[in-house]
Amino acid sequence: MCGIIGYTGTASAVDVLIEGLATLEYRGYDSAGVAVVTGNGDPRVRVVKRAGKLANLREMLEGTWLDGTTGVGHTRWATHGEPSDRNSHPHQDADGDLAIIHNGIFENFAELRAGLAADGHEFASDTDTEVIAHLIGRSYDDAGVGGDGADGAVALAGAVRTALRRVEGAFAIAVVDRRSPDTIVASRREAPLVLGHLDGASLLSSDVAGLIRYTRDVEALLDDQVAILTPEGITVTDLDGNTTEGHRYTVDWDIDVAEKQGYPHFMLKEIHEQPGALHETLLGRTRDGRIVLDEQRLDDDDFRHLDKVYVVACGTSYHAGMVAKYALEHWARVPVEVEIASEFRYRDPILTQHTLVVAISQSGETADTLAAAAHARAQRARVVAISNVVGSSLAREADAVLYTRAGPEIAVASTKAFTTQILALELLALFLAQLRRAMFPDEWRDQLRRMETLPDLMEQVFGQETAIRQLAASVAHASYVMFIGRQVGLPIALEGALKLKEISYLHAEGFPAGEMKHGPIALIEQGGPVVALATAGHVRGKIVSNIAEVKARGAMVVAIATEGDTEIKAHADHVIYVPDVHELLYPMLTVVPLQLLAYFIATELGCDVDQPRNLAKTVTVE
Ligand code: AGP
Repeated sequence: MCGIIGYTGTASAVDVLIEGLATLEYRGYDSAGVAVVTGNGDPRVRVVKRAGKLANLREMLEGTWLDGTTGVGHTRWATHGEPSDRNSHPHQDADGDLAIIHNGIFENFAELRAGLAADGHEFASDTDTEVIAHLIGRSYDDAGVGGDGADGAVALAGAVRTALRRVEGAFAIAVVDRRSPDTIVASRREAPLVLGHLDGASLLSSDVAGLIRYTRDVEALLDDQVAILTPEGITVTDLDGNTTEGHRYTVDWDIDVAEKQGYPHFMLKEIHEQPGALHETLLGRTRDGRIVLDEQRLDDDDFRHLDKVYVVACGTSYHAGMVAKYALEHWARVPVEVEIASEFRYRDPILTQHTLVVAISQSGETADTLAAAAHARAQRARVVAISNVVGSSLAREADAVLYTRAGPEIAVASTKAFTTQILALELLALFLAQLRRAMFPDEWRDQLRRMETLPDLMEQVFGQETAIRQLAASVAHASYVMFIGRQVGLPIALEGALKLKEISYLHAEGFPAGEMKHGPIALIEQGGPVVALATAGHVRGKIVSNIAEVKARGAMVVAIATEGDTEIKAHADHVIYVPDVHELLYPMLTVVPLQLLAYFIATELGCDVDQPRNLAKTVTVE
C-alpha cells in the first residue's frame, strides 16, 4: 500500500510532507515524491520525485527551492509499472496544471488510457494514476469553468467528481492544481484516507500515523466522498456534490501504535488485513471474460503445450505451493511436483521447453528461489513468478508474473502474503485450465465467483478471535504442539506448525494425518495438544478417525471444522469453525485460526512477535 500525505496551511508544505512521509516509511515502498504549488504571483505545480528511499528525494530537494504552503507527498508500493523515477508519484495532467497522488488500483485504466490516447493524450509513465490525472485535467477543461481561487477550487472538485464517476477499482487520491493554489481535493473508495483538522491548516494521510504529530482531531473519509481542503477548513461532499461528512473522531493512540493502526504488532495487523488483501488480489483479474496475468512475456501457446509443472519456493511460500498442486492438477489437469527451492537445482530435475516452473516468493529476493528459477530458465523451462513485490529480482527474471498485491508485509512471520499467494496460484490454475480447455467456461467462472466471496467469509472467522486467544493461553506452556491434516489440510498443518515455531520458539510439527500411526503417534502425551484440519470434504471421515487415534492416546484435540458440523464436537475437545466453501478454497480460511493461535501463544510467552530471534524477513543468502 502507498503512503499519502497532504498539507495546506501557512507552514512550508515540503517540510510537512517530508516529515509525514517519514512516519509512513514503515509501510515499505520503492519510490517517493512531492508536488507543491509554488509562486504566489503566478502559481505553478512543482513535482519532485525519485525511485528509491526517502533519502534520495531529500537529496533532490536540497537543490530545489519549493516555497509553497500547499502540497501532497507520496511513497509508492508499485502495483502497475516497475519502480522507477518516471513511475513515481505524483503524476500530472497533459498541461501540467495539476498533480495527483494515488493509493490503490484503477481496474479500468487500460480502456480509459486507450480513449485518452485516441484523443491525442501522451503518457510519461506506465501507471494507472497518470491516466486519471489526464482524465481529471480533461474534465476540468471540458467543464469550461474555473478560474483562480474559490472558482478554481469549485472547478477542481467538479472535475475530480466527474472523473471518479468513470473509474472502477480501489483508490485514495489527492490532487493539487495551480488554479486553486491553496486547495487540495481528495477522495477514496476502499483504500483508506484520513483528514486532519486544525486551526489555520488542513491535512490528509493514508493513515493516522501521518497526522498524529499535528492533530488528533481527525475525520475518516468514507467511500465515494470528496474532500476539499483549504487552510480555513475542510468541506466533504458525495460524488454528486451534496455536502456530507466523514467519520470524525479524536485519536488516542501514540505514534508507535498508530503505525500499527491500533494493533499491538504488525503481525496481528497483517492477519486482519487479509480479507482486504484477498480483495486486492482479485481486482482486475478478468478482462473480456478471460483471466489475465499481470505481466506476461509468453504467448498462450507456451502455456497450452505444457506437460509438467514444478512449483519451487521456501518456507511459507512452499506451503502455498503445496496447495497449488491440488488446484493445478484438479482444474488444469497438468502433473505437478512441489519442491523446496534449495533442493531443486541440486537434484538435476528433468526440464524441457514444455515444463513450467512456478516460483513463489513474497519478497521476490529469496536466494534459493531465485537460483531455482534461474536454473529452470537455463534449462529452457518457462518460469512464472508469484510475488508480492513489483519489480523484484524474481519478477524481473520470470517469463510471466502474477502479483499478490498484499501490500507491504512488515512482520517476519508471513500471513497475508501466504493467503494471497494461494489465491494467486488458484487464479493461475484457472488461467491454465482456461487455456488448456480443461474446464468449461461456466466452471471456472463459478470458481471465480466463489473466490470473490472469500474476503467476507474470512471476516467471519475473526468472530472467534477471543475463543482462540483463550485457547492459546491454555496451550502456551505445552511441551509441543502437533498439527495434522490431509489433502489441502496438510499444507495448512505444516504452515500452522511453522507459524507457531517461528514466533513462539515452541516445538511444533505438522504431519500427514495418515502418517501418525507410522511413527509420530509415539510423541502423544497425556493432554498434548493436537490441531486437526477437519473441514468438510472427501477426507473428513479419515481425519475423524485420526482424531480418534490420538484422542485414544490422551491427546487434547483442537479441530478446525466447517460451520454446522456439530458431529465433530463428539471427537474434539475444542472446535474452531470456518464457513463452508469449495474444498480447494478452504486453506485461505483454515489458516487464519492457526495464525491467530500462533500469535496469541507467542504474546502469552512474551516473545518478540514481529522480529523473532534468528530470523530475517528476506533470506538473500543460500
Ligand atoms: C514465513 O513465515 C517465513 N518468514 C519464511 O518461511 C518465508 O516464507 C520464506 O523465507 C520465503 O520467503 P519469500 O516468500 O520472500 O521467498
